[in-house]
Amino acid sequence: MNKARFSRLGFILAAVGSAVGLGNIWKFPYVTGEFGGGAFVIVYLITALFIGVFVLIAELLIGKVGQSDAVSMFENLATKHKKIWKFAGFMAIVPLIILSYYSVVIGWIFHYIVLSFDKLPTTVKESTDNFMNLLTSDYQTQLFYHTMVFVLVTLIILRGIKDGIEKINKVLMPLLGIILGILFIYSINVDAFGEAVYFMFNPDFSKITSSAIIAAIGQAFYTLSLGMGIIITYAASLPKQTNIAKSAITISIIDTIVAIVAGLVIFTLLFDKGAESTKGAGLVFISLPSVFYEFGGAGQFLALMFFIAIAFAGITSAISMMEPTVLYLIERFNMTRMKAAIICSLFFYILGIITLLSNVTEFAPALQVGEKSFFDWVDFVCFTIIVPIGGILVVVFVGYYMDKEIIKKELTPILGTTLLKLWFFMVRYVIPIALVAVILNETGIFKF
Ligand code: PFF
Ligand code: NA
Repeated sequence: MNKARFSRLGFILAAVGSAVGLGNIWKFPYVTGEFGGGAFVIVYLITALFIGVFVLIAELLIGKVGQSDAVSMFENLATKHKKIWKFAGFMAIVPLIILSYYSVVIGWIFHYIVLSFDKLPTTVKESTDNFMNLLTSDYQTQLFYHTMVFVLVTLIILRGIKDGIEKINKVLMPLLGIILGILFIYSINVDAFGEAVYFMFNPDFSKITSSAIIAAIGQAFYTLSLGMGIIITYAASLPKQTNIAKSAITISIIDTIVAIVAGLVIFTLLFDKGAESTKGAGLVFISLPSVFYEFGGAGQFLALMFFIAIAFAGITSAISMMEPTVLYLIERFNMTRMKAAIICSLFFYILGIITLLSNVTEFAPALQVGEKSFFDWVDFVCFTIIVPIGGILVVVFVGYYMDKEIIKKELTPILGTTLLKLWFFMVRYVIPIALVAVILNETGIFKF
């Protein structure tokens, strides 16, 4: 395999770049509010540590030892049933499918950056109309920005690990940190900051039900980009001397801090103007844009900073979604990076166009499958079924099918024997069961 490697800092920033995305901004704050504020934060921190970090270590381990694309790594590292395990590596194509609609959403963000320079909506109604118009009828604008994301992501991926992925993350991640810092300092000085803190941290333990725990597990997977071969792929280009336990903890801590800071900023702005907490696209593209105007002169600046920050978070995640399949094509089919990148980007670009049109009134009926739009289906199937299955494959693989001596050699020096035992116990028994519970619960097959 191509031996261009990340630098140590470059790797951490690239992994953080993948982890920090829309999940931190439009999912975490809302889920936290919904499941009992501070009590959920505590549950989440425990889950992030014992499931998130442990799976992160498992994925980093596969990449570090395997040094290839996801498919080859599962095949080569399996002690038995190699030909079957190879298929686990195909989880690496899942992020490319997700990217098809993630790219459309990043496109909306680009559009909103441009809108921030213009006249901000002055009412919730205006803000809703703006977004609904974009979503359900203005497909030309969506197409334009989706194309822009496609070109941008392709150009970065073309340049490879060191000159492409590492470089862009080294620029965008620190900038994202600075922008969030500015927004945070601004928020602290807004009256509703206390209310936002209360909303996110006031612990209501009565809300800690099994659904809350399952939501925490799902959130940990989503937010840390686990279960789809992304971390495995990046880790194949780790610098030799990396302490993967430390890396896993660093990545999770930064991701969690971003989620909490983003939540405090968002809720401060919303609550200060008496707006409701919502989630998902409605939060970012309707609720928030409807309050910026009320901050007077600062409003435009806040809007601009906010959308630039999520654009950076989105782009760096998008890149990480494409690399696994690109590397697979390079390694298994001897393609040049150029050819592999073009095939993968055309794939997500075209799928993205279908996804985008599925929200447009004019075309929706043709692209509706059952009750959900194509857009919603991709999201639902990927995150409630495929990603947890990917997670199960990863932990079962390291728990039962990888050479134990190799694992011990890698992990004993950094974890020590006691922690290593705990890690083995978790990956062999606890995490697989927890993930099965997630799938059953989220698909509605069995509600806990
Ligand atoms: N971890 C990203 C987030 O929290 O937004 C989301 C993500 C990245 C999902 C990469 C999937 C993926 F392939
Ligand atoms: Na995240």
